[in-house]
Amino acid sequence: MTAPVPAALGNPAKQHFIGGAWHPSVSGETLDTWNPATGTVLATLARGGPEDIDRAVASARRAFEGPWSRFTPNQRMMLLMRAAEVLESNYDELAMLESMDMGAPHARVLGMKGSLVQLVQYFGSQAVNWTGTTIPNSLKGSFTTLTLKAPVGVVGGIIPWNAPLLSMWWIMGGALATGCTAVIKPAEDASLTTLRTAELLMEAGVPEGVINVVTGYGTEAGAALAAHMDVDRIAFTGSTQTGREIIRASAGNMKRIQVELGGKSPDIVFADADLDRAVPGAAMGVFTNSGQICSAGTRVFVQRGIQEAFLEAMAAYTKTIRVGDPFDSETQLGPLVSERQLERVMGYVESGHQEGARLSAGGHRVGGALAQGYFMEPTIFGGVTNDMTIAREEIFGPVASVIPFDTEEEALRLANDTSYGLAGAVWTSSLGTATRMIHGMKAGKLWVNAYGLADPAVGFSGYKQSGYGMKGGRDHIEAFLYEKSVYINNL
Ligand code: NAI
Ligand code: MG
Repeated sequence: MTAPVPAALGNPAKQHFIGGAWHPSVSGETLDTWNPATGTVLATLARGGPEDIDRAVASARRAFEGPWSRFTPNQRMMLLMRAAEVLESNYDELAMLESMDMGAPHARVLGMKGSLVQLVQYFGSQAVNWTGTTIPNSLKGSFTTLTLKAPVGVVGGIIPWNAPLLSMWWIMGGALATGCTAVIKPAEDASLTTLRTAELLMEAGVPEGVINVVTGYGTEAGAALAAHMDVDRIAFTGSTQTGREIIRASAGNMKRIQVELGGKSPDIVFADADLDRAVPGAAMGVFTNSGQICSAGTRVFVQRGIQEAFLEAMAAYTKTIRVGDPFDSETQLGPLVSERQLERVMGYVESGHQEGARLSAGGHRVGGALAQGYFMEPTIFGGVTNDMTIAREEIFGPVASVIPFDTEEEALRLANDTSYGLAGAVWTSSLGTATRMIHGMKAGKLWVNAYGLADPAVGFSGYKQSGYGMKGGRDHIEAFLYEKSVYINNL
């Protein structure tokens, strides 16, 4: 496409970032990362394996035991504040890399600058904000009892491709705030912003070895990181299937763990909702980032009285959504991340047809000038029942299933009839309805008359097979810490 090439792309083959320097894979092997808008190779990455993970973990361990352990909370806070500044001043390049690597519209990624900077600043604020406690005891004799917090050590982070610029920070931020070190394994489809961020962090003053990045495939580099006996904690965002494998692999040394997995989130629209807000809200709740968001509201439940009108309005709105070149400032949806993902999603569209759902909008790959990329029309199926495959499985593409309901009880029963429980929303003008629904919905993050927004100070975690371990808020920081209880004899 027409965008200028970021400086970071002009470097030779992208390598692992270990101990503050670039290293090729021990095996010498590489893999290609693609630009999904053009279907062409964007850069060549090092293909990491167990030996590279060994090196990175050893580097992280040395840093953890070394000078990094003597940084004060205030120094770690200031480091994160400087990191926020460095990211802000290099954001145009990062946004360019992110769009080229995973296809998100450039204007949208540029719009996320404030969220990224705030996320990093939030972690900065947390560096001086964790404490132990003193506890009055009832022991015989005189004892002081207290708890001490200490960083868990080396943290492994395995992140997906759908929003790496933000995803990596849930691990890097927690590690830097608490005095842990990290080895990050970005997704093979979109590793470039993670590599560039690690390099930029050195400019901000992060000591070498504190943040390391090993690129490569999940079954090779990822699996080696999840199983590594000298990694103390693992954080993962991605599919439920891979999450299960990571949990199994972590058992060897009892790693602490946080997993944010798939979703099939309900977005419930009552007849008394303000439809001028609910229609675009529900549409963008599923189509944003071309549907590649774990908390996407993919099951749109609509009260029967307004079903036809709603479906018509949602289809009309959807037809106005501009799919196109990520570097065209008018573009709202870019391509899917890869040919594999496009095929997966088109497979679900096919299954929707076969199981008797009715297409209301979209349903096709985009051809013409965009035929070389992995573009797809935002798609709505009406007449969906909750037992159809498209209503049960995470599609991770721009496909909405509209399902009718009559009563609050029925809406709740259908919304909760899923193996997932990541997020959900309700659109209504009745406070009573909204309150009853948010009490009844079994999901970790809920919105009323809104969809998709998030603040790092407001932690959340999934229900059921959407994973566990808090992301955001105080508990997120606690997860990077051990707690020791201490008994001091007051002799
Ligand atoms: P994935 O969950 O397999 O990949 C996510 C990350 O895990 C990548 O960095 C990958 O390299 C790594 N990984 C893969 N296998 C691994 C293993 N055995 N051990 C350690 N790490 C491993 O997801 P993938 O294949 O990219 O996408 C497939 C589907 O997963 C999507 O269609 C979507 O349904 C779901 N997904 C959900 C995400 C979410 O945020 N909920 C994010 C990405 C994918
Ligand atoms: Mg790519």
